[in-house]
Amino acid sequence: MNNIGLVTGASSGIGRALAHEHARRGRDLILVARGEDELNTLAESLRQKFSVDVLVMAKDLTETASRQELFEAVEADGLTVEYLFNNAGFGGAGQFVEQEWSLLSGMMELNMRAVAELMHLFLPGMVARGKGKVLNTSSTAGFMPGPMQAVYFATKAFVNSLSKGVASELQGSGVTVTALCPGAVDTGFADTAGLSDSKLFESAATPQATAAQGYTAMEAGRLEVITEIGLAVAIKGFIPFVPERLAMAAIKKIQS
Ligand SMILES: NC(=O)c1ccc[n+]([C@@H]2O[C@H](COP(=O)([O-])OP(=O)(O)OC[C@H]3O[C@@H](n4cnc5c(N)ncnc54)[C@H](OP(=O)(O)O)[C@@H]3O)[C@@H](O)[C@H]2O)c1
Repeated sequence: MNNIGLVTGASSGIGRALAHEHARRGRDLILVARGEDELNTLAESLRQKFSVDVLVMAKDLTETASRQELFEAVEADGLTVEYLFNNAGFGGAGQFVEQEWSLLSGMMELNMRAVAELMHLFLPGMVARGKGKVLNTSSTAGFMPGPMQAVYFATKAFVNSLSKGVASELQGSGVTVTALCPGAVDTGFADTAGLSDSKLFESAATPQATAAQGYTAMEAGRLEVITEIGLAVAIKGFIPFVPERLAMAAIKKIQS
């Protein structure tokens, strides 16, 4: 296998679209998520369409041992991951004090610890080879506190900060780390997060367009890409000057 991209959360949404972006360039893939049937269906369609090699490794990445097991399975097969797409993640709307701890804990495990651990496992090989790319699917949620999704927003702040900090450490190594920061995207995310009735998703972007923007930014070695121009202007040019309580009241309203 060549130019291998490992995509977590490849069974649906943005991850599936990232796998498609990678395969259409003739690059091989390892697909990871819990849904083995969905991964096998995607793998078969990518093999047929793009004549690429695709391996499926079904894993629940909230399980602490799963990240090391995944890395060991890749090593045991003698495979070299050149592109790491840390994409699996989920949200959950509600008041922090009323949310189940098991839900919040699983969210932090997947959205933060799995992202950091997979980087920690795969980056040393990339650095030793002087070549590699990481694309972490973060969110515009990572740029501000998020009442009514406080933990989710906090996990994405972690991903933004980690991605940029490590990217800076790796400058000149031949390895880049990029944070993909979408706004609302039409995937399974809204249903899982309990946000399907939210106005946020009325004009959601497609996973295909989002993945294409992320892939281009990753190839260019950019630090981050905010996929919606309106949100990019607000986040970088406007929100920092709005009193924080006012900004949070607006976010709370949008998400409620
Ligand atoms: N959609 C949006 O509006 C939006 C906006 C900004 C950022 N994002 C981010 O985009 C990323 C992808 O989400 P999406 O929008 O494409 O949603 P999605 O369609 O629900 O996809 C989530 C993916 O993560 C996988 N996943 C969930 N739990 C997992 C676990 N325990 N172990 C391994 N894989 C797991 C799912 O597969 P299985 O269920 O088969 O395991 C699925 O492939 C997430 O990090 C999300 O935070 C989404």
